[in-house]
Amino acid sequence: MQMIRPRRLRTSDTLRRMVRETRISPDSLIWPIFIKEGTGIYEEIPSLPGQYHYSPDMICHMVERARAHGVSRVLLFGLPNEKDACGSGAWKEDGIVQQGIRRIREMAPELYIVTDVCMCEYTAHGHCGILCGHDVDNDETLEVLAKTALSHAQAGADMVAPSDMMDGRIGRIREVLDAHGFQNVPIMSYAAKYASSFYGPFRDAAGSAPAFGDRRSYQMDPHNSREAMRECALDVQEGADILMVKPALSYLDLIYQARQQFDLPVAAYSVSGEYAMIKAAAQAGLIDEHGVMCESAVSIFRAGADILITYYACELADAIKKGEIG
Ligand code: PBG
Repeated sequence: MQMIRPRRLRTSDTLRRMVRETRISPDSLIWPIFIKEGTGIYEEIPSLPGQYHYSPDMICHMVERARAHGVSRVLLFGLPNEKDACGSGAWKEDGIVQQGIRRIREMAPELYIVTDVCMCEYTAHGHCGILCGHDVDNDETLEVLAKTALSHAQAGADMVAPSDMMDGRIGRIREVLDAHGFQNVPIMSYAAKYASSFYGPFRDAAGSAPAFGDRRSYQMDPHNSREAMRECALDVQEGADILMVKPALSYLDLIYQARQQFDLPVAAYSVSGEYAMIKAAAQAGLIDEHGVMCESAVSIFRAGADILITYYACELADAIKKGEIG
């Protein structure tokens, strides 16, 4: 018997690139952006080196960078100056995300704007909804989430992405958007979102850590995968357009399963802790940042993701264009 030689297909870069099983495009990348209330703010975020807080008047810096790298999709988070018990800043007409949307619309009509819909940046207690005692009241929270999503759409958002993990939110948001003429605004659901320690740097960046307790009564238990598919199925039923798994690297099995079981596009969010760990290890001289960034992103797409939300969007777009990945 002739020896079978898999190495034969690895003999040159041209050949290796031809037989790649995973193809990646800058079109699949979404870059998370933090808009902060105020003026003149363009400051690096200590917990996320290389990422910035932008006040609306400084959004030009984000737009320039996105254009320079060919990144055309952003996911907006807001940092308001004032918070209250019910997070009313989230749906104000001149709220910080709403201001940010309008500014980007004016400056860069080519950018596709997705907004994170959640209460935790706007509530004084830092939980993702309206509290009843020490627990988040699911059904009351649905109303404020729907109001928030609607106000984002009214300000000009292209897509809304609820990240709160309340039951029934996709259906309620869909209903309210449709009732106001926004039938064509898609919903990207954070469908399988886990209660994860990997969100630490984000909570510093967004000032959204819960003042007491944790998020385990609404975000998912990392031990569960069947439950994640159930969450996805419910969101499909309620009208989600895109399903998201979050975090990404420790949850590749869920990305794989979601891809196998559902026919909607699957997004993966490579979260703040994943980014910060690569940065810190590279800073310490332990790993090659570029190589680890590329390999991590490829593994997420190989698992089945169609879309990757990542703080490395600009650098990855460059790597794809140079043919280092993709
Ligand atoms: C809001 C929200 C969080 C993230 C995205 N949306 C934080 C949380 O749930 O505590 C985390 C993103 C990241 O870590 O990069 N609920």
